[in-house]
Amino acid sequence: MGIDEKSILMTERVTPRRRGSYGIDAPYAPAFIGGLAVLEIAVAVILGNVWILLAGLFLLAVLGLYLHATLRGKFVVWAKLLDTLNLRGDERILDMGCGRGAVLLMAAQHLTTGRAVGVDLWRSADQSGNSAEAARRNADAEGVADRVELHTGDMTTLPFEDNSFDVVVSSLAIHNISETAAREKAVSEAVRVLRPGGQLMIADIKGTRQHEAQLAKLGMSAVVRKRLGWQFWWGGPWVATRLVTATKPERGS
Ligand SMILES: C[S@@+](CC[C@H](N)C(=O)[O-])C[C@H]1O[C@@H](n2cnc3c(N)ncnc32)[C@H](O)[C@@H]1O
Repeated sequence: MGIDEKSILMTERVTPRRRGSYGIDAPYAPAFIGGLAVLEIAVAVILGNVWILLAGLFLLAVLGLYLHATLRGKFVVWAKLLDTLNLRGDERILDMGCGRGAVLLMAAQHLTTGRAVGVDLWRSADQSGNSAEAARRNADAEGVADRVELHTGDMTTLPFEDNSFDVVVSSLAIHNISETAAREKAVSEAVRVLRPGGQLMIADIKGTRQHEAQLAKLGMSAVVRKRLGWQFWWGGPWVATRLVTATKPERGS
């Protein structure tokens, strides 16, 4: 089978439609926005104030965009991003901060003999119902458990050898590290475990300009930062997800 034929079949198989259950990212944020919207609408009705009503409806729209991003949009966007990697199927892929497996398990669906490895601290403030067990159940539901490894660990000190992955991805996870130095450590760890010629993809809502600068400083090639569009907005364009991609140079180049 030629590469084109194979990648067409892969594209058909790896769709954003999921069989697992992936929770809500930063669940306190939509709970707060929804609560405030209901309160404003109630106050508007009691006072008969059209401006407060409009503010409440605006917050409902913000909530709708947030829920779309977490329940559907990020899957649509990552399905396309993973397609652009043109994976052969035998790669080792690392997902830093994999949570319940949204990106990890879609990546695993591109693999045959390869492995999709997820590392996480499973913080429920960052994703509802977050646990290794939830990710494992999702791997079973998606039919990829035989290709998936889960590790409990901190992405600032990855428990993996140098040059041991073909691809490293991270989605909405690095911003959850509060200190700048620790976020930089996570990015340098991603570069350390990536093999020469390997590809890095970081999607996040904060810090991507710093990641771009750091990756260039670390000698990564083809460093690019771009927006990922409205499906990945967390309530509006003011909290947009951006993607940073880079390639680790081959030895001696
Ligand atoms: C918003 S969730 C995103 C999960 C997943 N990447 C996705 O897109 O669905 C962020 C994840 O990063 C994890 N995380 C936060 N800090 C971490 C750290 N220092 N090391 C490993 N994982 C971390 C959290 O436990 C959580 O699972």
